[in-house]
Amino acid sequence: MGRNLGRAGLSQKSRDAGPSHRGRGATAAAPESRCRKSHAPSRMEGASGTVWRLGGSSILPRLRSGPPISRHPAQTDARNTMRLFAISDIHIDYPDNAQWVEQVSDADYRDDILILAGDLTEDRRLLAWCLGRFAAKFRQVLFVPGNHDLWVRHEPADMCSLRKFEHVVDIATEAGVSMYTYRYGNTVIVPLLGWYDYSFGTPDSDLGKLWMDYRACRWPEGFDPARVTEHFLDLNPETVPHPRPGERVVTFSHFLPRIDLIPFFVPRAMRHLDPVLGSTGIERQLRALGSHLHIYGHSHINRRVRLDGVTYINNAFGYPQEGAIAARRLIEIIDET
Ligand SMILES: [Fe+2]
Ligand SMILES: [Fe+2]
Repeated sequence: MGRNLGRAGLSQKSRDAGPSHRGRGATAAAPESRCRKSHAPSRMEGASGTVWRLGGSSILPRLRSGPPISRHPAQTDARNTMRLFAISDIHIDYPDNAQWVEQVSDADYRDDILILAGDLTEDRRLLAWCLGRFAAKFRQVLFVPGNHDLWVRHEPADMCSLRKFEHVVDIATEAGVSMYTYRYGNTVIVPLLGWYDYSFGTPDSDLGKLWMDYRACRWPEGFDPARVTEHFLDLNPETVPHPRPGERVVTFSHFLPRIDLIPFFVPRAMRHLDPVLGSTGIERQLRALGSHLHIYGHSHINRRVRLDGVTYINNAFGYPQEGAIAARRLIEIIDET
């Protein structure tokens, strides 16, 4: 998984260059093709109307044969004085949001951990910049990508979202950001990859027109949402490696693990999005891991709630117009149970 970024055309200089929004998508050299076009009909058609299949050098076996995401031996830090912070959905494609990243203190969090629960940007160059900036500010940054991070609207024509995911892993690795299980003091943090598989509801006829992922992502042939979700869940650890008595387990995902995390005040007109919010498979996994506390993103609705013995927290930064439902600040994650 640790290819160097030079092959993807993301130089150290460009990663340090700051949140410029010029030339989006033009920085990446055309990669060799693994996502092949097909003309078979599919629900997951790309913007061009083509669908995508894995070629001979498939991503899938390569991901599984390499060190699996989150099954990597847990990274361990013996210090017990670190604070844990979390945020999601910073969406730095908006310049004001990118400016907020720049303004986070360079001095206040040097002993602390930050969970980034996805949806930073669809632009790989901006992603590298953002992860690098946070890595410089925190002792350790942990990350899972969201749906926006796997959009390929401005990528070369032969890029699919699974291959984009590989690039995102490489960018995180290069920035010193971890997507693996991480242990400090008596806490173990487990990132959970995911997607949505319609386990929260059946899409209505309008969702296909309204939900941008259907046009901004491209998947290999046969990868419907259920298959995409299965693919990512398969990369998650089934158990905490080397569990210790009394250890606190914190998990995090971009997508929602259960639909009742959407609060009652959300209007019925918005509930047509339920099918694309997450997967019950994430809930199944975090329960199997013995999670005490789960951080999630994607809904952009800040919330802290305890359900069936687990505390769930959403701290989305959100879009510029979402100030009323998003706190737009880092929060320290303190287990109050
Ligand atoms: Fe988001
Ligand atoms: Fe999202």
